Amino acid sequence: MKKMIDIDFGSERYDELVELRYKVLLEPLGLKFLDSYRDKEIGYVHIGCIESLDDKLIGGLMMVPLNNNEIRMMQVAVDTKYQREGVGHQMVAYAEERAKAAGYSKLIMYAMLSVVHFYETLGFTAEGDIFEEKGITFVKMVKNI
Ligand SMILES: CC(C)(COP(=O)(O)OP(=O)(O)OC[C@H]1O[C@@H](n2cnc3c(N)ncnc32)[C@H](O)[C@@H]1OP(=O)(O)O)[C@@H](O)C(=O)NCCC(=O)NCCS
Repeated sequence: MKKMIDIDFGSERYDELVELRYKVLLEPLGLKFLDSYRDKEIGYVHIGCIESLDDKLIGGLMMVPLNNNEIRMMQVAVDTKYQREGVGHQMVAYAEERAKAAGYSKLIMYAMLSVVHFYETLGFTAEGDIFEEKGITFVKMVKNI
């Protein structure tokens, strides 16, 4: 069974999450996780998905408030072995509920073009022009919640 959890910054689960994000998201893109990033993530909301059978972290994401209404979702990652089983959908739905309960009315993210369809199936719409950063093409996606 899969279970969604909130993850405390600096906890053992947080270290697991950093490693998962690196393995799934950053390493394949040739990007590094620098220790200096950690400090920036203190005030972020960290969310994970656990496989209850072996208590393993199989997915995660983080959110950072932009203002009183908008919160940005970042680095959504699911362990390659568990992709396309609905974990991504469940995690984003959980994050959306967390954001709504905290009083935010809009979720924002910058999606790689390869996963735009995934976010469209979750009710996000692309907004504005596509842009490139570190050789990767992104588009802003938004969802009113
Ligand atoms: C993108 C990602 C978060 C989706 O999570 P997931 O658990 O695999 O997704 P779900 O099983 O909930 O939904 C899968 C559906 O999303 C859609 N989808 C579109 N592009 C996709 C992609 N690149 N990967 C997975 N699903 C994709 C499909 O409709 C798919 O359904 P299908 O298998 O029936 O075609 C996950 O595959 C991942 O971590 N990918 C690598 C990292 C990444 O690109 N993160 C996004 C950062 S912007």
